[in-house]
Amino acid sequence: MLVDHDTPPPDTLLHWRREFPILDRCTYLISNSLGAMPRGVYDNLRAYADAWATLGVRAWGDGWWDLSGQVGDKIAPLLGAPPGSVLVHQNASIANSILFSGLDFSDPVRDKVVICDLDFPSDVYVLRRWLPEHARLHVVKTHDSISIDTDELLDAIDERTRLVSLSHVLFKSAYVMPADEIVNKAHAVGAQVVLNGYHSVGVIPVDVSASGVDFYIGGVLKWLCGGPGGVFMYVRPDLLQTLEPKVTGWFAHDKPFAFELEQPALRDDIYRLMTGTPGIASLYAIQPGVDIISQVGVEPIRAKSIRQTSLIITLADRAGYAVASPREAARRGGTVTINPPHAYEVSRELLARNIVIDYRQNAGIRIAPHFYNSDDEIYQVMDAIAQILDAGSWQQHAAGRSFVT
Ligand SMILES: Cc1ncc(COP(=O)(O)O)c(C=O)c1O
Repeated sequence: MLVDHDTPPPDTLLHWRREFPILDRCTYLISNSLGAMPRGVYDNLRAYADAWATLGVRAWGDGWWDLSGQVGDKIAPLLGAPPGSVLVHQNASIANSILFSGLDFSDPVRDKVVICDLDFPSDVYVLRRWLPEHARLHVVKTHDSISIDTDELLDAIDERTRLVSLSHVLFKSAYVMPADEIVNKAHAVGAQVVLNGYHSVGVIPVDVSASGVDFYIGGVLKWLCGGPGGVFMYVRPDLLQTLEPKVTGWFAHDKPFAFELEQPALRDDIYRLMTGTPGIASLYAIQPGVDIISQVGVEPIRAKSIRQTSLIITLADRAGYAVASPREAARRGGTVTINPPHAYEVSRELLARNIVIDYRQNAGIRIAPHFYNSDDEIYQVMDAIAQILDAGSWQQHAAGRSFVT
């Protein structure tokens, strides 16, 4: 046993556990990767199948056509966005493509796009493909593999900057970037900001209206328990008409059923950013998770998350494991990355023991409790790591590495 278990405080959020079937089957500490599935998804997918089976093509008129925006409206309050400003797409790579393809890069003096080297690579892949020839990426580098120096970042945002594209919470370390300072500096020099909210919405409070951020894109599959196939894309309402996306499709067309071959007149509302037929099944599956998170409320989720991530850090410190996440609670998202000896092999043995976490190269084991996890589960994973190291059972995983959890 690694430590004596302290008496846990009463945890009223634990009654939500019964809504998530997987919690009865394993120790699920990986909501930074894929949040647990709410049991309500069974009903929603049945409703989808029923609509398809009984209404057939008429289902488009009975709600399917507008579902991407309706689900966007359901997600919007969780990021402080007004109705009509959020649209759901299949993934962030597509949402970024739509955005980057629609930005006006024509000012030759604004030739700089600021990113950092701890951003999610897919954001950068897409950005590189859309960067016009005269523009260049300015990569602000980390000094500690956990965070980005705020002064260096703000200094990099200058009068030549067209766009700042950063994660709100960094995916490897869960460092919370100073979003308000970034937006204020960018706006002061005439630049725009897109933030990746994959690791923020649902686990830390986000208010895009208060911050004035220009664009905000994140996924539902992690902290919103919405499953694969859904990201939300927020555009500040006054900027919508400035976007002329090259990645487009007939759902964005003002008169989609005119079937004209001319340049499309794009819609004036958020559907301006649509492409083609959306994945309707995902739009059904997303909703129970979003409903639950909305009911629970992000404030209590954040309070519990800070308590449990602090507990992980305390236990890691006692055991002498390196911690690769911020120690300051205000700068830490929902995940703690720890790097015990033989971290990769230990992570494989944890999975073999039905304790579900993940491992990221050059970072370590990511442990991500959500509002449905108990403190006992935190002790369980930390005790298991100590036991795996003591007994040497990590050694059976020493041959062959796979980076897919
Ligand atoms: C920060 C971040 N951005 C984006 C993604 C996924 O991108 P996409 O929606 O394009 O698959 C992930 C997935 O793990 C992520 O952690």
